[in-house]
Amino acid sequence: MRIITFLNQKGGTGKTTSCINVGAALSLCGFKCLLIDADPQANLSQSAGFDELQDDEITIYEALKGDDINKAIKTKEGKTKYDMIPADIRLSAGEIEFISLQRRNYILRDAIRRIETPYDFILIDCPPSLNIFTLMALTAATEVIIPVQAQYLPLKGVAQLRDTIRLVGARFNPKLKITGVLLTFFHSNQNLDNDVLEALEQAFGDKVFKTMISQNNKLAEAPGHGKDIMDYSPRSKGAQQYQALAQEILGDMKPQRG
Ligand SMILES: Nc1ncnc2c1ncn2[C@@H]1O[C@H](COP(=O)(O)OP(=O)(O)O)[C@@H](O)[C@H]1O
Ligand SMILES: [Mg+2]
Repeated sequence: MRIITFLNQKGGTGKTTSCINVGAALSLCGFKCLLIDADPQANLSQSAGFDELQDDEITIYEALKGDDINKAIKTKEGKTKYDMIPADIRLSAGEIEFISLQRRNYILRDAIRRIETPYDFILIDCPPSLNIFTLMALTAATEVIIPVQAQYLPLKGVAQLRDTIRLVGARFNPKLKITGVLLTFFHSNQNLDNDVLEALEQAFGDKVFKTMISQNNKLAEAPGHGKDIMDYSPRSKGAQQYQALAQEILGDMKPQRG
């Protein structure tokens, strides 16, 4: 099972959009996917139509506090089908509650180990900061994907992020690897500066995905309909690009089940 965290301490870099649409694209390829919302802002949940959760519904918050995580799993139906553990604003309380726990970094990893359904992929959406949920996600993951806005690459921030991942990896999760840096909000008339590409390659070697995600309005519209891009607008550029990205992530991996 591959557990991928979408990470960048900056907001608005396309983490949530990439998490849901990579999940949808991998599902279409026949892989069983679970998406976990680890951001109290709950954008991932809203993007799949899981908003207005009832008080008695088990979210990621209760699962992290020890309730049965299997009861927190919901299924997104439609043209695309995958599972999700949603969050809502109650998760924000966890930031204070979990911080004093000794094994706080391992809480999500241990909860994931109690999941009974066999998944090919678990994809975790992170908050736009390096907080307790981000640390939990980095500790639970086997891999990290870093979406970065192509327009104004905050290279300093990206290098800092790489160092954080190494640090967390060394301490809590030695097997953690960076799968790729994903350029998002790319303009088709934009020539990526050679300096920028060079700096990216200096920081991440050959780990920059060949697929880049263009600026595409359909990608911004889809969440308002509670749909991923493959469900909302399967022929859009955004849908094609996220499917190409899924192929890159898969490499030569093939679905195991019928
Ligand atoms: N390639 C894109 N083209 C146009 N809008 C996008 C694209 N990717 C994301 N968006 C929109 O930009 C906003 C920020 O993206 P989001 O994925 O939520 O970023 P993050 O999770 O990193 O904060 C959202 O409103 C989203 O719908
Ligand atoms: Mg987000």
